[in-house]
Amino acid sequence: MEIVAFGVQADEKPLIEQAFRDHHAVRCLDVFLNDDTAPIAAGHEIVCTSVNCDLGAPVLRALAVGGTRMVAQRSTGFNNIDLDVAGDLGMTVARVSYYSPYSVAEFAWTLAMAVNRRIVRASTRTRDFDFRLDGLMGRDLHGRTAGVLGTGKIGEAFARIAHGFGMKLLGWDVAENPACMQLGMRYVPKERLLAESDLVSLHVPLMPETSRLIDADALRTMKDDAILVNSSRGGLIDTAALVAELREGRFTGVGLDVYEAEAGLFFLDKSLQAIEDDTLARLVTFPNVLVTSHQAYYTRDAVGQIVDTTVRNVLDYTAGRRSENVLVPRS
Ligand SMILES: NC(=O)c1ccc[n+]([C@@H]2O[C@H](COP(=O)([O-])OP(=O)(O)OC[C@H]3O[C@@H](n4cnc5c(N)ncnc54)[C@H](O)[C@@H]3O)[C@@H](O)[C@H]2O)c1
Repeated sequence: MEIVAFGVQADEKPLIEQAFRDHHAVRCLDVFLNDDTAPIAAGHEIVCTSVNCDLGAPVLRALAVGGTRMVAQRSTGFNNIDLDVAGDLGMTVARVSYYSPYSVAEFAWTLAMAVNRRIVRASTRTRDFDFRLDGLMGRDLHGRTAGVLGTGKIGEAFARIAHGFGMKLLGWDVAENPACMQLGMRYVPKERLLAESDLVSLHVPLMPETSRLIDADALRTMKDDAILVNSSRGGLIDTAALVAELREGRFTGVGLDVYEAEAGLFFLDKSLQAIEDDTLARLVTFPNVLVTSHQAYYTRDAVGQIVDTTVRNVLDYTAGRRSENVLVPRS
């Protein structure tokens, strides 16, 4: 059987081809699955997708008409897939429920420290032989407070690093994580976490309850000199409200690996085109903001695990086995 894989990065392609080699043929495409590209999947029982593929109702219906019965998503998050519609269409949807949480947690810390210590600006200056320190002053994090919204696998890994820096830990989650409490984390209401934290990092999934978790009110609750990091999903932050606060000169630094309207932009080269998204265009002009294009997971270790698990998910589907990675059918 040939599997068609959408949204494949150049670095990922050999890993995917190698992992499927002894099992199925795989056709790797750099285009993302959407209304326009769905016809490419016609005749393929299994499609393999990534976070910025659109698996809303119209695309799923088009896939079903073309004979697709299974979606193998190469990520943990699945907010891009309409699971109810996939279920109604009798499809199987599987994801990668576990891979190195360190990949994302370490990257969230990379963003936090880069904005705190003005690393990008410093590098730009030294390349220009400008060795002044003006404007590059950061802050010690030792003794300060890290607020972790979402203390699951990635949030816990983030909290462990914060603990290593000697930070106090505040947490917010629907379920308390005993491993985080052992690090000294105190669970508090969201408003208190935002008001007391010097560094706020987001690690909850995007779902209706968490959409725009960081809205205008939440941003106003934060300390003026806080650092905000989002390596989870862009929809957790009201970006227009964030831009409004940044215009007031607030926040030491903001590190964003995700953006609510990233689909159609992130993972693609848009360097020679006019960017139509004014919010993103404004965001990247602030000297205290660093935007990366959804690369937190992008380590050899994590991508290797994602690919291996995706192959396992496909083999489970073809053998009629169910695993903890299956989202649809629901039971
Ligand atoms: N940027 C990237 O490359 C990248 C890569 C992987 C994952 N992610 C994002 O990171 C998120 C977290 O991943 P994880 O592996 O730690 O997931 P996880 O399931 O281990 O942890 C999520 C935590 O969020 C909590 N939570 C769920 N709903 C909540 C709600 N309504 N209110 C408060 N807390 C809630 C859960 O109780 C859990 O502790 C993923 O959902 C994904 O969006 C991003």
